[in-house]
Amino acid sequence: MSRPRGATGLAGRLFVAQLLVVGAGGLTLWLVALAVGPVIFHDHLHRAAVTVPAQTSRHVEEAFQSASAISISVAVLASLGAALGVSAYVTRRIAGPVVRLAAAARDVAAGHYAVRVPTPALGGEFASLTGSFNAMAARLETVEATRRRLLADLAHEIRTPVATLDAYLEGLEDGVVTVDADTVAVLRGQTARLTRLTEDITAVSRADEHQLDLNPHPVAASQLIGAAVAAAADRYQAKGVRLSADAADGLPPVRVDEDRIAQVLGNLLDNALRHTPAGGRVSVAAARAEGAIVITVADTGEGIAAEHLPHVFERFYRADAARDRAHGGSGIGLAIVRALVDAHGGTTSASSGGPGQGTTVTVTLPTP
Ligand SMILES: Nc1ncnc2c1ncn2[C@@H]1O[C@H](COP(=O)(O)OP(=O)(O)OP(=O)(O)O)[C@@H](O)[C@H]1O
Ligand SMILES: [Mg+2]
Repeated sequence: MSRPRGATGLAGRLFVAQLLVVGAGGLTLWLVALAVGPVIFHDHLHRAAVTVPAQTSRHVEEAFQSASAISISVAVLASLGAALGVSAYVTRRIAGPVVRLAAAARDVAAGHYAVRVPTPALGGEFASLTGSFNAMAARLETVEATRRRLLADLAHEIRTPVATLDAYLEGLEDGVVTVDADTVAVLRGQTARLTRLTEDITAVSRADEHQLDLNPHPVAASQLIGAAVAAAADRYQAKGVRLSADAADGLPPVRVDEDRIAQVLGNLLDNALRHTPAGGRVSVAAARAEGAIVITVADTGEGIAAEHLPHVFERFYRADAARDRAHGGSGIGLAIVRALVDAHGGTTSASSGGPGQGTTVTVTLPTP
């Protein structure tokens, strides 16, 4: 990459600018002094009414001209010196931060996102420039960290089923494992896990890239939660967890893609069921708020510790990684929930009193 002209370029330009100002000032001074000085001088001599011999007059005239020339020249030279000093100072004040910002931008371009620039005391414009630059670098740093973690998590997710498949294939080759119903079930289980992983990743990246083809139309909130509860009822009954729906009266309709919101509520009800032991309760409620409908899925289950709460909507995040993976979760359900709700212009949040205290996930959807 070619190095742009930095401090030298700006310093040179500033000095030439000062030089032009001093030069123009000096020339004007010289012309004005030439035009006005002798007239005023002669006028003074005339008013003093002194008559001097011609030779003395010539001498006085020469003395005046040389005094004028010397003082004007000294003045111009002194201003040139001052200009040099001022431009050196101004250059250091202005060019320094510009050069530092350029160096930081080169660092960011080279992938060093941790770099930040201090705010110079040069007023609002520079403060806003460095502020925006630092914000950009911080954002890039987060994106890069997420990308790394995502790749590491993906590799981790893929490694386990592939290792299992590999071990079984090796056993088959060596004749230690026979192809019976159990073996097939294990192999199917692993391929199903890989398939589910790829489907989840596709869904979340499509939602992230706003590529979802939403087909919104007005739907009653009670219909949304009624359908979700009906779809999950069998599984809840099988585990012995009570499930109820409760929509407040007279709710305005929401404009949503019914299938996508069914997916959102399905994911939340899956989570609630997975984390609520038999005998527990899960309730889905819809209520009205300012310009929005608030849907909550509250369970009386395991709850989420405070340190995990802020992260549960991140991709691949599992509060209890070992146990949640054993449950079959890849930690992507809530990331999909958030992406789908975001696509509808809504918001999502989760709260919990802590381990054993149950969890409440809240989805807010704007009303038209
Ligand atoms: N209702 C809940 N009660 C307790 N913990 C929960 C609840 N919902 C989510 N969590 C925690 O948040 C984590 C992230 O949830 P998410 O739905 O994103 O992933 P998952 O359920 O583990 O996997 P997936 O949904 O991809 O099958 C879960 O692993 C779990 O630790
Ligand atoms: Mg889930």
